[in-house]
Amino acid sequence: MVNDKQQKQISPLDDEELSFFKRYGYLIKKQVVSAKSCHALCDQLWQTAPKHLDRHNPGSWRPIPSEYGSSDPMLSLNDTKWQFRGAGTTPEQVSIMKDPQIILWAEQMLGQGQIREPIENGKPMGSWGTAWPDGPVDPQLGEGTRGIYATLPKKASSTQADLLHTDGHPFHLGVVCLLDDCPPDSGAFKIWPGSHRRFYPLFPMQYDQARIPFYPHMPSHKGIIHPKDYLQEVTKVQQDTNPVDCFGERGDIVFWHHRLGHMAGYNNSDTPTIRQALLFDYCHKDLDTLRLSAPHPNMWNDWSAQLQQAEQAISAETSELQQLNQSQP
Ligand SMILES: [Fe+2]
Repeated sequence: MVNDKQQKQISPLDDEELSFFKRYGYLIKKQVVSAKSCHALCDQLWQTAPKHLDRHNPGSWRPIPSEYGSSDPMLSLNDTKWQFRGAGTTPEQVSIMKDPQIILWAEQMLGQGQIREPIENGKPMGSWGTAWPDGPVDPQLGEGTRGIYATLPKKASSTQADLLHTDGHPFHLGVVCLLDDCPPDSGAFKIWPGSHRRFYPLFPMQYDQARIPFYPHMPSHKGIIHPKDYLQEVTKVQQDTNPVDCFGERGDIVFWHHRLGHMAGYNNSDTPTIRQALLFDYCHKDLDTLRLSAPHPNMWNDWSAQLQQAEQAISAETSELQQLNQSQP
């Protein structure tokens, strides 16, 4: 665990880590965010706890009864999902997006000085509402983090399959930070390694996904139109690629590419555990210009020269540290 009294040593990603990110679309870094910062964010979350939850009584850590549910985008409460977005631009959360160590790594990938800055005390994600009525909240409509996302324990049925998706809003680099320990199969971020390279060329635009314009007189006609080739590839990826459960300890982070297939894992924890994580995106400051382009033959065109040049072989040790199943393609 990072001791807050210790001076944190800032160190860059090495060439193998950058190569790993290019190849597999994610990169786990252990023990990055201090325990103090994680505690502060968990405290923010628990101030919004649904009434049936007692922070100190794991026996109460059950799905949210419908009478305590909320469709407010700033505090979404539904079954196992407890998503608090209202504090996404508080100094506590913005300071993690600006953490010198995390920024150094993100700038190695996107270019020094090239990352759009969050706005302290700006508009949190959710304050603009949803992407379309009853739709998801759009992280581009926010000036800080996505928020703190908790997943309550609930045993998945044996027929409940892992299903991936890619995010429908434009961004570059996602980050998930565990705010408390999260054992395997307990709701951690789950990703399909390498899928970003397969999905990236299949959209007409390199960052956007096409939305159906919403009109109130046709309330059911809404959402995202997925290209046929993409949907076929989703089926193939789910058949041929084992997902990686990005479980870990408080303070661990995972970087992920914007076209990487992923899902919020089911929380099947035997000893009740609540997965609590901070989610945020880094965007290149020229995202709105870069969005206008179709996918490039070189999918790393918009990324740093250092990342583009990283082509190192991946060792078995690194694959193990990254929790990657060795049978992956
Ligand atoms: Fe997602």
